[in-house]
Amino acid sequence: MERTLAIIKPDAMGAGKAGKILAHLETSGFRVCALRMMRLTEAQAGAFYAVHRGRPFYESLVRFMTSGPVIPVVLEAENAVARLREVIGATDPAEAAEGTIRKLYAGSKERNAIHASDSPKAAAEEVSFFFPQEALVDPEG
Ligand code: CMP
Repeated sequence: MERTLAIIKPDAMGAGKAGKILAHLETSGFRVCALRMMRLTEAQAGAFYAVHRGRPFYESLVRFMTSGPVIPVVLEAENAVARLREVIGATDPAEAAEGTIRKLYAGSKERNAIHASDSPKAAAEEVSFFFPQEALVDPEG
């Protein structure tokens, strides 16, 4: 079993799609280990996306990610990191495959409904960015 991090982004929250996205993730075989709802500060969003600092979209991305609440979620499945990337689809919803979360719910390359860790190393870092070890629950009970 592997764990990864998803974030339901402010556009999807504002559109009232959080429940549908969580249902899509569960139907796709992921189990929820932890989740919280929060509003990111500029410092938190900047730190989370530090790898993109200097890119033309960075400042707009931080503005977007702090524009409303988000739901970070820890998900568990076999091969969770790669499988979640498949289930959410390409960064740009115009390029995302039919049936993926971004195809269904995203509006643009920036406002793309959901984030997913892009490697096992990033997943470990991103999970601990939002959740202390004791907040992670075994979904099997
Ligand atoms: P995410 O998977 O959260 O990782 C980085 C985010 O930056 C990405 O989703 C998009 O929200 C945003 N992003 C990436 N590339 C671009 C781009 N070319 N223009 C605008 N936003 C982008």
